[in-house]
Amino acid sequence: MCGIVGYVGKQKATPLILEGLKRLEYRGYDSAGVVVLQGGKFDVAKKIGRVANLEKEVAQHHLSGTYGMGHTRWATHGGVTDANAHPHVSSDGAIALIHNGVIENYAKIKKFLLTKGYSFKSETDTEVLCNLIAYHYAKEPLATNGDSRFVESVRRTLRHAEGTYGIVVMALDAPGELVTARKGSPLILGLGDGESLVASDVSAIVSRTQSVVYLKDGEIAHLTPKNFSITTLGSDAVEPVIDTVTWSIADSEMGEHAHFMEKEIFEQPIALENAMRGRFSEDGSTAQFGGLNISAGEFRTIERFMFCACGTALHACMVTEHLIESFARIPVECDYASEFRYRNAPLIPNTLFFVMSQSGETIDTLAAMREAKRKGFKVLAVNNVVGSTIAREADGGIYQHVGPEVGVASTKAFTSQLLIGAMLALYIGRMRDLSFGSGVRYVTALKGAPDLVRKTLLQAPHIREIAKRIAKYHDMLFLGRLSLFPIALEGALKMKEISSLHAEGYPAAEMKHGPIALISDQCPSVFLVPSGEIVNKIISSMQEIKSRKGPIIAIVSEGVELPAGLADETILIPECHEAVLPIVASIPVQLLSYYVAVERKCDVDKPRNLAKSVTVE
Ligand code: F6R
Repeated sequence: MCGIVGYVGKQKATPLILEGLKRLEYRGYDSAGVVVLQGGKFDVAKKIGRVANLEKEVAQHHLSGTYGMGHTRWATHGGVTDANAHPHVSSDGAIALIHNGVIENYAKIKKFLLTKGYSFKSETDTEVLCNLIAYHYAKEPLATNGDSRFVESVRRTLRHAEGTYGIVVMALDAPGELVTARKGSPLILGLGDGESLVASDVSAIVSRTQSVVYLKDGEIAHLTPKNFSITTLGSDAVEPVIDTVTWSIADSEMGEHAHFMEKEIFEQPIALENAMRGRFSEDGSTAQFGGLNISAGEFRTIERFMFCACGTALHACMVTEHLIESFARIPVECDYASEFRYRNAPLIPNTLFFVMSQSGETIDTLAAMREAKRKGFKVLAVNNVVGSTIAREADGGIYQHVGPEVGVASTKAFTSQLLIGAMLALYIGRMRDLSFGSGVRYVTALKGAPDLVRKTLLQAPHIREIAKRIAKYHDMLFLGRLSLFPIALEGALKMKEISSLHAEGYPAAEMKHGPIALISDQCPSVFLVPSGEIVNKIISSMQEIKSRKGPIIAIVSEGVELPAGLADETILIPECHEAVLPIVASIPVQLLSYYVAVERKCDVDKPRNLAKSVTVE
């Protein structure tokens, strides 16, 4: 959620931190702040609103220090105010802190600190943690394992902290040092030339270095310009693994596009090509994956699949459920990760778990995965971010390989999850009863998906015109059946999140069991209409809407003939294989919500109240 960036080195820290914060703004954008240590004091600037506001504020200060840290906030404890923005400085002025996460026992700690004379300016749990570090620091704890007093006081504090955190700490009398630690919130160390960085996301540091260390839960790192060391909460030394980031800064820039969302929608043909590269067998009849860490023999013993995810990723799981059940004939269950983690679901043996997560850091998905592992099940992950927590903790998995997704609304990550789900269904199907010939046809269809997406993207100007006409409405329905029902859910989610237009997704036939009460000339319905047996049933549902004066936008497979005058607007999509259809049908719903948002002058890449990568519960 919140974005974190810290720097120690030879350069002026503030411009580097601000640049990093701009790249992290998609993680949270209620407020932002920066602190540098200069002239023997912490110089803090913080402001509600976007990083651009902070930039103006910073111009009033002369922040010339060469070490510091910055934060973009997504509010959890306390409203969106300058006082609640990070960084926080302890009331004795000794410690400065930025934090991502939630300290659950902050009220108890605060009570204790008040008795010790510490005072508070904000309503945040972060300021409480900051003062607790100051309390331990003031007591001058003896360092263990050769660590400094600074590291030791952070360690002692964290032993008392319940909840989640990714933190960076500065101490007034330890210039040129940063201490950083994590539990449940991602942190990455960047190792540059005479400089060290820390950030919640690689994109904030990749312009300075591609050598990184992914910090693990329960680890504390100590950074100076030339050195770093990692220990655990239990004071054990950790041998770090240094990774190289494979993408460059250009991958996370907008180029000629108006928004990241637009860029990422139009990038989808290439993203799909990247996601499928090298993943088909030589005989062209099935898929192959390098990192599943589970043998074909083991796969054959699986009697049930369970998929957990959140939001858009869950919709991708629901399409995967449909395809695995159709092509491999094995039962699949999908669940909201946030529900699964608490509902103590009875699980039959021989169930294989999958989680899907673009970021690999969504706390509910991570918790669902840990719960399944705790119960003794193997969990595989479909994930886009190499080195993410979910990728590291999973027993195996499949990377999406679509590069950084910056737009808060997931688009290219979604269609690549659909593709990987379709490839999984093929892989499992071919181990069972799916014939060689059907496998070859399936592979040929998947290989053709990027071109079909390219063709569908050509409809963008037409969809933009439709968007102009529907932007005035307040409510909408998205209706689909079978594998397109999750795409209806996704269409409604996209419309809600980026256009702030209320939309609901339903199975088309279910609409008459309640939602039909909403239908009037003020509530348009988007119907997803594929070719095949189901089409006449969908046409009946459309007639029911039409006879109640509901405007209809039909996303229709080429070759389907709708009764004249039934649809007010029509968007054609190419006729395609069942495994490719959900991918192709996603394009118009993405474009529609994007253009409606543009028409309604919404902040497309930073929708109200949202943040990319939800790392709090
Ligand atoms: C919606 C969206 C969210 C995410 C959800 C899970 O456009 O992006 O619904 O899909 O928060 O995120 P990941 O996939 O990172 O676990």
